[in-house]
Amino acid sequence: MQQFNNYKVTYRSPSNIAFIKYWGKKGRQLPINPSLSMTLSNSYTETTVEFSQSESGFELVSIEVEGVESLKFREKLLTFFNSIIDELSFLKNYKITIKTSNTFPHSAGIASSASGMSALCLCLLSLEAKLENKTLDLNRVSFFSRIASGSASRSIFPQFAHWGESFLDDSSNEFAREIHFENLPKLYDAIAIVSSSEKSVSSSSGHALIESHPYKEGRILQANHNFKAMVSSLRDNNLNEFGVLLEEEALSLHALMMSSNPSFILLEAQSLEVIKLIREFRLKTNLPLYFTIDAGPNIHMIYPENNKDEIEDFINTTIKPLSKKIIFDCRGEGPQFMGESFE
Ligand code: PMV
Repeated sequence: MQQFNNYKVTYRSPSNIAFIKYWGKKGRQLPINPSLSMTLSNSYTETTVEFSQSESGFELVSIEVEGVESLKFREKLLTFFNSIIDELSFLKNYKITIKTSNTFPHSAGIASSASGMSALCLCLLSLEAKLENKTLDLNRVSFFSRIASGSASRSIFPQFAHWGESFLDDSSNEFAREIHFENLPKLYDAIAIVSSSEKSVSSSSGHALIESHPYKEGRILQANHNFKAMVSSLRDNNLNEFGVLLEEEALSLHALMMSSNPSFILLEAQSLEVIKLIREFRLKTNLPLYFTIDAGPNIHMIYPENNKDEIEDFINTTIKPLSKKIIFDCRGEGPQFMGESFE
């Protein structure tokens, strides 16, 4: 076992967009259904963690988000550290300082918990690997990221990831796995920001409402069916079939929210307007532009490289005037190690 007085490490980790949605959990943050996501490229968190030897046990000295100390994140992180400290017991010898920043605006419909928590776990497990003289185990990083935020488990891997027990042999509820689609062109994600106000209901409260949801069993069946069908459509580069499933997943997620008790609506009038315009455009042009939506009002527009120019032209002329902003992103290659120092 190595010893370090100080260790400092920086990672960039991307967000991801779920194509098959994780909604509802059981046990220790395990999903009730399998999910499938595309790892993004431009939307990422960069996190630096500095560890210094501590005589008095683990301490979170400070957590700076975009250069400002954050009490909100401090509380969230302390709950997370409490839940994992016995499994990562080397942390008891360190006090840590965290500095983190995102390339995308807050509440932009891009999951900052996925990029933020995966970047943090990469930094934590990087010290563990160093102490034990081992290489970083990405499944282990995904495991701890999952405990911090379910969707973060999928951000660890390049291109596409699946999480949750499914028909795939390597699937697991404990951590996500990488999946590649050799025949698929590169996919793009343009996010129409129709509102950047704070979500009225957090995803943790949303997940909790599934527990007693009248459609719970039906949703589990639907998600498993859609997961299998989507994997096969992506393997076959069948974008028509993929698009139908993608939109069904997004609308089912919001239908579950609207039919929860208490019910809630995260979509705005402009979200529906954008959806309508996308469908009209597709009918008129036959071009493969499809939407998905996370737990918020913003619309992710998914399209392949082959038709990028015509589709982005439509987005800029027709969708942009209805939106506060469009963020252009695409399939990415996963987290990046940015450097370390130690003594
Ligand atoms: O990881 P959480 O707890 O923030 O939940 C994410 C839920 C969705 O973004 C709506 C779907 C998903 O699979 O990412």
